Amino acid sequence: MSTRDKHETRPVAEMLVHSPTDFRVDGAIYTDQALFAAEMDRIFGTTWVYVAHESEVPQAGDYKTTQIGLRPVIVSRASDGRIHVMLNRCRHRAGAVCRESQGNTKLFTCKYHGWTYRVDGSLNAISMRAGGYPSGVDASSLGLQQVARVESYRGFIFASMALVGPSLTEHLAPVLPYLDHQIDHSPVGRISVQRGTHRALYQGNWKFQAENSTDGYHGNFVHQSFWKIMGRFGNEGGQHGNYAETDMAKIMQRREEGRTLGFANGHGILEYPLPGGGLDAMRRGPHAHYMQLMDGAYTPERLLKIMPQYNLWIFPNLGVLLDQIRVVQPLAVDRTEVTLQFYDLDGVPEAYNQERFDGYERFFGPASFGSPDDVEMFAMNQVGLQAGEMQWLRLDRGLQREQILPDGTRQGHPSDETPQRAFHRKWFELMAAANASHACETSTKEACA
Ligand code: FES
Ligand SMILES: [Fe+2]
Repeated sequence: MSTRDKHETRPVAEMLVHSPTDFRVDGAIYTDQALFAAEMDRIFGTTWVYVAHESEVPQAGDYKTTQIGLRPVIVSRASDGRIHVMLNRCRHRAGAVCRESQGNTKLFTCKYHGWTYRVDGSLNAISMRAGGYPSGVDASSLGLQQVARVESYRGFIFASMALVGPSLTEHLAPVLPYLDHQIDHSPVGRISVQRGTHRALYQGNWKFQAENSTDGYHGNFVHQSFWKIMGRFGNEGGQHGNYAETDMAKIMQRREEGRTLGFANGHGILEYPLPGGGLDAMRRGPHAHYMQLMDGAYTPERLLKIMPQYNLWIFPNLGVLLDQIRVVQPLAVDRTEVTLQFYDLDGVPEAYNQERFDGYERFFGPASFGSPDDVEMFAMNQVGLQAGEMQWLRLDRGLQREQILPDGTRQGHPSDETPQRAFHRKWFELMAAANASHACETSTKEACA
């Protein structure tokens, strides 16, 4: 038996080492096929998973397709305005009934034998039904399978395969104020996803992107070329986040300011403060008109909370950054798709959204200076993991200086691995949980009937 074989048969609970001075995870959690299959049940089959923003399906008949783990799902808006999240699987012989990424329709038609479904998922018709099926067949039981629970928070639609469990707001509770901060960059408190989706594939495990989205350690190294361009050209191509400086030394100094937070439920934050001069500098800067709108909408105290830069990670696979909604879709143990969607702030001058978009494209777009470098790192991690004789990955940076706040939240330096540890604590809690009871609680209503 090889060293790696031994890892794969070890209980999950033994794949995490954590103490006040040590935090390590076993490399098998990124490479083991059986663990990947278990994640689809124990993580994506139990927690709340983000599926769409309401602005993507504003009209009756609008839909988009996405995944909950590996399960293909359709998110649609029915004629009564209600949102449905349904498994994208024909009742006949399992064909995916919708193959488009988004659109508007009256019916979903399975291409294989022509069964049709309404936008709310109910069965419309069985093709060539007469004579082929008993006349009394119960059509009401042959609609698309609805996902067990669907809830929204300020436009963010989440679904859960689990019939029972915490409500969405209970799951999000520790980070709801930070999600509010992101949305409240709009003076009317609303955002819109309307500029399409950018998809990046990489040959690595999905958790690398989950860890990276609140990782303030890597940026100085992986994104060095970007900071140099900032130093040389400033914000001419659109402002990147809150970075208003054009001086490399100042940029690097500001990357030392701020903090990381690790929450219960696996969520995390990487926070950088307002640029030098704070709100007053912004009021005098090129976006004075935007700041006037914000001053009209919020108190100065509230603005001081809203305006810092937050990378918010919502367990297991959603990132809400200053300018984007990021979803990490696992495809296989070593293959992942990241979808990035820029969002507009409602109620602000078009020029301000455009500058945000330019900054987004410069760092996160397909031909940008940021995201492509990150996904290259995740593929390199997967290469390194093939040396399976070595067991551990260290996630102990800043453990000795981490503070535990009164509510239990952990706080670290912006380059510390505090949010990553929060992610893994929750991951291990779910993965190591006794699995017997979850078969009926985490499946669809039909499976439990
Ligand atoms: S698989 Fe859908 S109609 Fe046959
Ligand atoms: Fe990065």
